[in-house]
Amino acid sequence: MDIRPALISDVRGIFELVNLHAELGDVLPRTQTQIKESLSDWIVGSLNNEIVACVSLLRYNNNLAEVRSLIVSDQMQGMGWGATLLEAIITEAKYRKIPKIFALTRAEAFFKRAGFSPSDRSHFPEKIWRDCDQCPVKDNCDEIAVELQLEKASHLYQTPEQSDTFVLHRKQENM
Ligand SMILES: CC(C)(COP(=O)(O)OP(=O)(O)OC[C@H]1O[C@@H](n2cnc3c(N)ncnc32)[C@H](O)[C@@H]1OP(=O)(O)O)[C@@H](O)C(=O)NCCC(=O)NCCS
Repeated sequence: MDIRPALISDVRGIFELVNLHAELGDVLPRTQTQIKESLSDWIVGSLNNEIVACVSLLRYNNNLAEVRSLIVSDQMQGMGWGATLLEAIITEAKYRKIPKIFALTRAEAFFKRAGFSPSDRSHFPEKIWRDCDQCPVKDNCDEIAVELQLEKASHLYQTPEQSDTFVLHRKQENM
């Protein structure tokens, strides 16, 4: 799988992958317009010209961003690609100098393995205002908030300068 920043030609593939998993209740749905408008915030996994994995980073302010739409297609799960994608988006957050990232997820154990710790969604009112208040299952939500302080996680990950994702990012910027 080729892990790289998303391109405009990936929008449809991302849209299809995200909305397949939105129907399963794993992630929130996204429109193609939303994906296009936030394209620089997406990292994808591509295999044989097909988008088989994705993740995005939504910045709320200078101090906080959310990891969202983290998906590995069913046939590619369990091979470490999810962890690779999560590491790539953490590197991206570090590159953007965002000190704290969080996620709302049912895959708490998966995030914990990457250094995230349990949190409380009330710590993230920006998320509640943006998404949760409109969510049809808000009163029965089974997602757990997890967070990662990036300055404390430096021992877990490569510095941006050492990372392949960073290299890819710089390459894309220079194109
Ligand atoms: C979560 C997800 C991205 C993990 O991708 P992946 O490529 O399978 O992850 P990895 O191979 O790096 O890691 C697999 C490990 O994560 C664990 N894991 C996967 N999904 C999990 C979940 N929902 N809850 C707890 N652990 C989970 C697996 O059990 C496995 O553990 P093991 O190595 O001890 O067997 C993938 O399962 C997925 O796309 N799920 C549907 C979408 C989703 O729920 N996304 C999270 C929304 S924030």
